[in-house]
Amino acid sequence: MKRLVSGIKPTGSLTLGNYIGALRQFVKLQDDLLDTEMFIFIADLHAITTPQDKAQLKKNIKSIAALYIACGLDPDKVNLFIQSEIPHHAELGYVMESTAYVGEMERMTQYKDKKHKQTQGIRTSLLTYPALMAADILLYDADIVPIGDDQKQHLELTRTLAARFNQMYGDTFVVPEAFYPKTGARIKSLTEPEKKMEKSALNPKSYILLLDDINTAKNKIRSAVTDSEAIIRYDVKEKPGISNLMTIFASLSDVSIKDIEEQYKDSDYKTFKEDLATLVGHTLEPIQARYHALMKDPSLDQTLDLGRERARLIAMRKMAKVYKRLGLGRQK
Ligand code: TYM
Repeated sequence: MKRLVSGIKPTGSLTLGNYIGALRQFVKLQDDLLDTEMFIFIADLHAITTPQDKAQLKKNIKSIAALYIACGLDPDKVNLFIQSEIPHHAELGYVMESTAYVGEMERMTQYKDKKHKQTQGIRTSLLTYPALMAADILLYDADIVPIGDDQKQHLELTRTLAARFNQMYGDTFVVPEAFYPKTGARIKSLTEPEKKMEKSALNPKSYILLLDDINTAKNKIRSAVTDSEAIIRYDVKEKPGISNLMTIFASLSDVSIKDIEEQYKDSDYKTFKEDLATLVGHTLEPIQARYHALMKDPSLDQTLDLGRERARLIAMRKMAKVYKRLGLGRQK
């Protein structure tokens, strides 16, 4: 049986970008890959690479757990758990720090971007973060890791570290493959379509949150930046705004970009945006309804307990093997 691993950081409420690039893929893969065991977690240790409000973090962790299920993950098919509840992630994270070179960490573009924005009080873990991410994946011998485009470099590094460790200490880790969505691996900002849509952006009109009020979400689509040509044509370079909206449309409807161009060839931006706003509304409504029910349901905790136990068993065995390979402790 193969394994799939992925996670989301609880540093805010989830965006439509997280949904299209990651969550929606998890749900599809859960139904498509019948020979694959899935481990999906809330990457809370990754959240403290930057300052967090304790109460808010707690809330976000639970909220993401509920959103995973509200978006369609089936707790009977997927092991859902919280990263910090399995100490082996941090343990293997340290081993990965002892496998990676500082230069490799410093080359990560996400680190460079964040460091540039923050300038003061940059935590060491912001630099070493990819080692923990590698640990998250390698701990479970993941064959496949569904992610958005922005995690590509981290996944490449994970592959490098797995191969390096295997070479130095003997075959220990599976070298994982990334899995990107066909469309929507990088959903862009609605106000600055050259940039990625992200929850930490300053302008709330630049992103849609899965828990946005439906009318607010629709208005964000209506006011999204486009160009003055008024032709619904996909051209990321010349027309990044409308191309991004087309990508969102294609991802949520499973209609190809080409078919969207054809369907709207005699139309205008206003009509297209209105249709997309309706589609976004139809996507969010059932997710939000399930989400609010789940937040009150004690079975959410049971799901996380079960997921933790299943994951812990695998993680524990793997860690024992890793320490043995390294010659640590007294294990023979
Ligand atoms: P995070 O929490 O920033 O994002 C979670 C997932 O959402 C994807 N994503 C997007 N996809 C398309 N368009 C966007 N605008 C967009 N924004 C985010 C991300 O690519 C990601 O797949 N380091 C990870 C969390 C993590 C992880 C792991 C993932 C920790 N350990 C192990 C996979 C395997 C992160 O910060 O993702």
